[in-house]
Amino acid sequence: MKAVILSGGSGQRLAPLTHTTTKQLLPIANKPTLFHILDLIKEETPIKEVAIVVSEDYGHQVKEKITNSEYNGYFKFDFVFQDKPLGLAHAVQITSMHIGYDPFLMFLGDILIDKGELKKAYEMFVKNKPETLVLVKEIDDPRPYGIAEVEDGKVTKLVEKPQNPKSNLCLSGIYFFQSSIFYAIANIKPSYRGELEITDAIDFQISLNKIVEPYVIKSWWFDIGTPENMLKGNEVILNNLPASVNSKLDSSVKITGKVVIEQHVIIEDSEITGPVIIARNSYIKGCKIGPYVSLGENVYLQNTKIENSIIRENTKIKDFSGTISDSVIGRNAEFSFGTNGKSKTKLVIGDETKCILL
Ligand code: TTP
Repeated sequence: MKAVILSGGSGQRLAPLTHTTTKQLLPIANKPTLFHILDLIKEETPIKEVAIVVSEDYGHQVKEKITNSEYNGYFKFDFVFQDKPLGLAHAVQITSMHIGYDPFLMFLGDILIDKGELKKAYEMFVKNKPETLVLVKEIDDPRPYGIAEVEDGKVTKLVEKPQNPKSNLCLSGIYFFQSSIFYAIANIKPSYRGELEITDAIDFQISLNKIVEPYVIKSWWFDIGTPENMLKGNEVILNNLPASVNSKLDSSVKITGKVVIEQHVIIEDSEITGPVIIARNSYIKGCKIGPYVSLGENVYLQNTKIENSIIRENTKIKDFSGTISDSVIGRNAEFSFGTNGKSKTKLVIGDETKCILL
């Protein structure tokens, strides 16, 4: 079996962060979502060959990051460039030369899911051999999503953004396909939004009486397509990281809860409330950090309070009055300002942004 990971798209809901980094490489607990996905595939399936669909704009960024990673060697990667984001089914279609006649896993590159679910879904697909296995998740309000209608353990219909949903099983963005999905994709037309929809291809299979089964995800699952969802992802991943402190800290530092502190980190006169991860070479003085904060490499923080936020590498924040909360801040940014007193500030800041109080 092989895997296809969709790492193209435009990521507009994460602008301005996605003006410089593709969504799938943005860090969640200091690791790109794409790498969290590769960890799962490695741990929970026997898959060794992965085709990654990438955009023209960011393809080389993804290729370079993967090529220089620990995953290169364990997996054999193919990079498939998609000219334009013409839909999920289009993205799958252009991998057909790489997949051939093998069954395969399709994983959207912006999805995080708890451990154990992929393994169970894989086992179900291998045992039952349906034409397609769709991973779905029960949610309260499925109207903004694609949903699967299910009868007697079989998917009978997929509906995009239903006005009057007959099911609350939302499509998760993870599927197992037999290679016959390529035939189905060849038989569909672009939707009203001009995209080839994977839901239409699966509906085509259902119209031919092919078996499409649901696998219901029991644990947490979500996409990281908005800053709020990136932070939800950051929270659950940080909750599951084992604590480790690899820098020397003196008595001016108060630590509570679970923290990961990498090497060559200097912290002075500060309070760190886990879960928190601090990457190597960072410097923190006179700060309150946490809970649910991820700091990238070489971050510099002085006289600043931060909670529930992701701060990327090389960013410098000084004398921020008030608390930075629910924020995602890019690389090489620099600022020193803030609201007065106790209030909280939410920031979504792209790379290289400077905002300095004179
Ligand atoms: P989406 O989140 O639906 O789209 P997007 O990434 O362009 O984001 P936004 O809506 O904020 O602009 O895409 C889901 C995943 O599938 C994501 O990892 C990107 C990928 N994708 C492709 O690789 N090719 C495509 O043609 C499309 C539509 C998405």
